[in-house]
Amino acid sequence: MLDTTDRLEGTKTEIYEELARQLGGLFYGERDATANAANMAALIGRGLPDLNWAGFYIMRGDELVLGPFWGKPACVRIELGKGVCGTAAVYKESIIVTDVHEFPGHIVCDAASQSELVVPIIRNGVVIGVLDLDSPSLARFDAEDQAACENLVRLFVAASEPF
Ligand code: SME
Repeated sequence: MLDTTDRLEGTKTEIYEELARQLGGLFYGERDATANAANMAALIGRGLPDLNWAGFYIMRGDELVLGPFWGKPACVRIELGKGVCGTAAVYKESIIVTDVHEFPGHIVCDAASQSELVVPIIRNGVVIGVLDLDSPSLARFDAEDQAACENLVRLFVAASEPF
């Protein structure tokens, strides 16, 4: 099995570079979307500091359904347009929420979550799901996290068959 580090250390830039490198190793020779998403959620959850949840919601019909994740059990179905995940999926844009209590319609899955980053997963212009990261700290995510996670999501789409 690939030797992946647990909690990564260094600057934010260095941590994301290392995550991208390790993801490349995990995806090598494997195109199954569920397997790749499961490893990606575990890698991010264990590697990025200050997270309490990291995972996927997958488009099924007109709703998002819980996919592979790291963290506590979470709500299973999210309607398009609802919560941070459903909003990011509709607008096809990443959303950073610095304080989840201030986001109208935020869906509470883990009461520990204070801030959140959701990145839509887009294949050929179509949203096929979202990557959702939650933190127990306020304002955990910034533009660098957003850009870096969008890059990780692009690696995932390129490496995987459709769900
Ligand atoms: N908070 C999300 C729901 C998913 S959980 O955070 C894992 C939302 O508002 O869409």
